[in-house]
Amino acid sequence: MNYCKDLRKVVKGKIVLDEPLKGHTTFRIGGPAKVWVEPYDVEDLKNILKFVKKNKISFFVIGEGSNLLVKDEGFNGIVIKLSSDYFNKIKSNNTCIIAGGGVKLSKLIDFAKRHSLGGCEFLSGIPGSIGGALAMNAGTRINSVINNQYQSIGDLVKEVEVIDFNGNRKILKARQLKFAYRSSNLLKYIILFAKLNLKPRARAEIENEITDYLSYRKRTQDSNWRNAGCVFKNPLSPSDKLLSAGYLIDACGLKKHRMGGAVVSSKHANFIINDKNAKARDVTNLIKYIKKVVKDEFDVELALELKIV
Ligand code: EPU
Repeated sequence: MNYCKDLRKVVKGKIVLDEPLKGHTTFRIGGPAKVWVEPYDVEDLKNILKFVKKNKISFFVIGEGSNLLVKDEGFNGIVIKLSSDYFNKIKSNNTCIIAGGGVKLSKLIDFAKRHSLGGCEFLSGIPGSIGGALAMNAGTRINSVINNQYQSIGDLVKEVEVIDFNGNRKILKARQLKFAYRSSNLLKYIILFAKLNLKPRARAEIENEITDYLSYRKRTQDSNWRNAGCVFKNPLSPSDKLLSAGYLIDACGLKKHRMGGAVVSSKHANFIINDKNAKARDVTNLIKYIKKVVKDEFDVELALELKIV
C-alpha cells in the first residue's frame, strides 16, 4: 500500500521514501525503511501515531541507531526520528537538566560540564540519544574506573514527559518509573523530555572523570569501528552476581571468530564488528553461534541487548 501521499497531508516534518537505514545505525548494516519521518513537533508526532494506528502500519522510533541491527530486507513501515529542534532542546533549572528525547548523550554531557553539573559523566562514550538511553536504561559498569558499581541513566531521572502510542501525553514521576539492568517500563512510550537530577561539581573534576571513562573505553572497546556496542546483556550468575558476557565469550576463544563480514572484536568479545560489508544475516549467524558455544561451555543463556528490526 502506498500511504505516503496521505501521510504528507497530515505531517509537516520531513518525509523520505525508501530511506537506507544503514547510514542511521552505527553498525552501518541494513536495508531501507519504507518511510522515514522526522516530525516537526509533538502535534506532528501525534498525527503520525494516529495515522499508523488507523492504517495498521508498523513503526518504531530510532535514536542514534547505536544498539540496532536492521535486517537486510529493511523495515516495511515507518521509522520516526526525533531530529527536529522541538525534540532537541536542552536547558537547566538549578541542578536539574531538562532535555528532549532526541538529544544526544554527548550533548547532555557537554551541557552538564559547561554548567558545572556532575552526575552524568559515566555516560561518556555511549553513542545514544536521551530517549533510547532511558528506554534501555543505558549504563556502564564502573568498577574498572572508580569502584565496584553499575550506574545507569535511570538513577538520574526526576521525571519524564512521554506520549503513548495512542497519542496521550503524560508526565511520569520517578516513582512511576521502573528501571532495571538494560530495561525499563518506558518501552511502550515515546520520550518527549526528561528531567534529570544532577549536582554541582567543579568543572575540572567533571573533565577528569570524563577523560577516565573515555580512556577506559578506548582501551577496552572498538569505539572507532562499525559496531553496535555490547551485543549481549551481562548474564546473572546463580548467586545473582552480574557476570561479563564479554569475559565468557572471550573465555570460549571466540575473539576474531568470523561469519562473512561480521567478526567478534579482538578487543572486547561482546562486540561484533562489521568488518567487510557485513550483511545483517552474517551478524545473526554469528550471534547464534556465540550463544551456542557459550551455552555448551558455561551453561549460560546469553540474551540480546542489541535490538533487531
Ligand atoms: N573481559 C574479558 N574479555 C573481553 C571483555 C571483557 O576478559 O573480551 C573482562 C574484562 O577484563 C573485565 C570484565 O570482563 O575484567 C568486565 O569487562 P568490562 O569492564 O569491559 O565490562 P563489561 O561488563 O564487559 C559493561 C557494559 C558496557 C560498558 C562497560 C564499561 C554490558 C553488557 N556491558 O561491559 O556497555 O561500556 O561495562 O565498563 O552491560 C553496551 O552496553 O553496549 C556496553 C558496551
